Amino acid sequence: MPSGPSRAPVVLSIGGSVLIRGEGDGPYLDKLAGILRRLGRSMPLVVTTGGGRTAREYIRLGRSLGLTEFELDEVGIDVTRLHARLLAGRIGPPTPSRIPTSVSEAVHELHRASPIILGGTEPGHTTDGVAALLAVRLRAARVVNATDVAGVFDRDPRRAPTAKRFDRLTWKEFARLIHAGATGEAGQQFLFDRLGADALLRAKIPLRVVHGRDLENLERAVRGRSFVGTAVEPT
Ligand code: UTP
Repeated sequence: MPSGPSRAPVVLSIGGSVLIRGEGDGPYLDKLAGILRRLGRSMPLVVTTGGGRTAREYIRLGRSLGLTEFELDEVGIDVTRLHARLLAGRIGPPTPSRIPTSVSEAVHELHRASPIILGGTEPGHTTDGVAALLAVRLRAARVVNATDVAGVFDRDPRRAPTAKRFDRLTWKEFARLIHAGATGEAGQQFLFDRLGADALLRAKIPLRVVHGRDLENLERAVRGRSFVGTAVEPT
């Protein structure tokens, strides 16, 4: 680990729809890699990468071929790891190019290097859920969720332009929001993995939700400075 034991780790979860948008992805990934390299030197940092549209397309194809839900989750995990590999490759050493496949492996790697980049782990949750489990395991100072909208809103801001952003929420309010829209369907993507949210609530770990394409703001949120987005606090 690059810094002393008093420095609590930070976990960043980046949505696949932020990483691969279909426009400006190369320059974005390049700049993101540079920022993560720098952040990883000043704090123990673990980053999970989502599968986004690519994962959904492959899952749809697999479903049409009759694959089981378990197998479809495995397809999704493979895509998240593909994104992790791209990002880790651009960051370069000391970030391991071999992508950890479990929470314990990522924790082990973090003892030797930072940042650590990984995708999913096992079927049944999302990379936000992996980020939450990592944060609990590491007693992280905070989790930052980089998404394709600028925080948590009362409605999906991609469909409702008048949607209102919450600047601050307690974990209980956030959990209520998540469970109110608890269908798990595509429209709910702007919210966080439900099991992950429950794990963070229990461990009283703060969550910051920010737009992942605004890299200066993302860096401020990771460093624990003031940022634009939604802060979910234990009380
Ligand atoms: P994502 O983490 O990308 O899910 O995993 P998402 O909610 O669609 O997030 P965005 O759009 O990237 O922000 C993609 C899929 O991979 C499987 C699940 O099927 C998930 O929906 N997956 C991922 C797992 O089964 N386990 C994991 O640990 C991670």
